[in-house]
Amino acid sequence: KGQDEALSAFVQGKGWTVVENGSDEGSVQKDTVIILKGCRKGGNSFFFPGFIDTHIHASQYPNAGIFGSSTLLEWLKKYTFPMERSFEGKEKAPPQAYTVYNKVISRTLSHGTTTASYFATIHVPATNLLATLCHRRGQRAFVGRVCMDNLVFCPEDYHDASGEESVTATQEVIDYIHKLDPQGKLVAPIVTPRFAPTCSHKVLGELGQLAKSYNPPLHIQTHISENKNEVILVKELFEESESYAQVYDDTGLLTPRTILAHAVHLTPEERALVKARDAKVAHCPASNSALGSGHCEVRKFLDEGITVGLGTDVSGGYSPSILETARQACLVSRLVSSQSAASETTGYESLSVEEALYLATRGGAQVVDMADQIGGFDKGMYFDAQLIDLGAPVETLSEDSEVSLDDGQGDTGNIDVFGWENWEEKIAKWVWNGDDRNVKAVWVSGSFLSIISYLPMSLVSE
Ligand code: GUN
Ligand code: FE
Repeated sequence: KGQDEALSAFVQGKGWTVVENGSDEGSVQKDTVIILKGCRKGGNSFFFPGFIDTHIHASQYPNAGIFGSSTLLEWLKKYTFPMERSFEGKEKAPPQAYTVYNKVISRTLSHGTTTASYFATIHVPATNLLATLCHRRGQRAFVGRVCMDNLVFCPEDYHDASGEESVTATQEVIDYIHKLDPQGKLVAPIVTPRFAPTCSHKVLGELGQLAKSYNPPLHIQTHISENKNEVILVKELFEESESYAQVYDDTGLLTPRTILAHAVHLTPEERALVKARDAKVAHCPASNSALGSGHCEVRKFLDEGITVGLGTDVSGGYSPSILETARQACLVSRLVSSQSAASETTGYESLSVEEALYLATRGGAQVVDMADQIGGFDKGMYFDAQLIDLGAPVETLSEDSEVSLDDGQGDTGNIDVFGWENWEEKIAKWVWNGDDRNVKAVWVSGSFLSIISYLPMSLVSE
């Protein structure tokens, strides 16, 4: 109480406006102090940089958790393409796109994701809708219309009408997003060839040119070397290229603003090429395990100076949480380490919890080429943040406390129950046990965002 009064006097003395957390969401201006409600006194609360999901398929969200025991190429045909196809709408996005895209934004925000690099589908209206919703709701995002013009791998009922359409439809989405957010303050377009097997050499080259024709060049995202059969397929389809990475390099798609998802089976030569071009890697450990794709040896990438961030890869990945992805990055890394120790040829140091959190924030910021703007709390950066509450130690709670340890809504139960953990231990327990219940509030560019919000169709003008 005493602290509240002292704070009020201080704030009023400065002539600042005071608002309560949530009272005027999204419109907090400069010189405003936000009083945070919902943080426990005596608890363990802290600000953390917002998470950056460098690879997520917004359109696949309804499939999260559905993959059976399939692997990549069958999974795409059985589950993924049919789901994406259902976003079709020539003039207008179908109603389900509103539901799904609102939910994706809500769920990722609820897990503390303040920036996401989204794949949408091949459909222009639904892709534009995703960009609009991100912009209106305040989530920082890169939004890409998926290109697939090569009928050898695309299903009959889901592909671009022609190579020409891949490029013109991509251009339409770029123009739409540039009009929506002329300075790219929140939402930016990203050129998105799905992956080499769904694209002709010609279209890959034209998309590379298209990205390069802007100043600064546009971001690019795609998949690379996720699965062994995929690598074999690329060898067959692109006989003239020496390797999978070479296909992208030959077509101008390996740039400092390119996000390569997975990169599980890259050869040392391909890693050297990725490094030479300063292309970035989205590590998607939950997806790689779920689809049995393999384990990406992230330590090697880091040792070689390749920039790495984390991606949920929903719905190859089963969870929209980057915290879960960080946990899986640690687990996979431990397994890789145990294998390499067995061979006694190379030591392989597993990722620490702190390193996984680094990949989730600053690493992700480097991947989207915004290292000086997001991913940390350095002076001059945007305030993209999440407020984490780990719960109150038992001794600070009395019988008439507003919250009890097992109220089920405030914390994940076991963190610092007795109040004797140091911060290293608290953070470790957050990474291993935490979830969206620990995320009390989220800000992007200093604006407080509503996590539970839904923009109905009538409020969105396309
Ligand atoms: N490769 C090509 N398309 C996809 C996709 O949608 N998800 C994953 N995980 N890999 C892909
Ligand atoms: Fe993916």
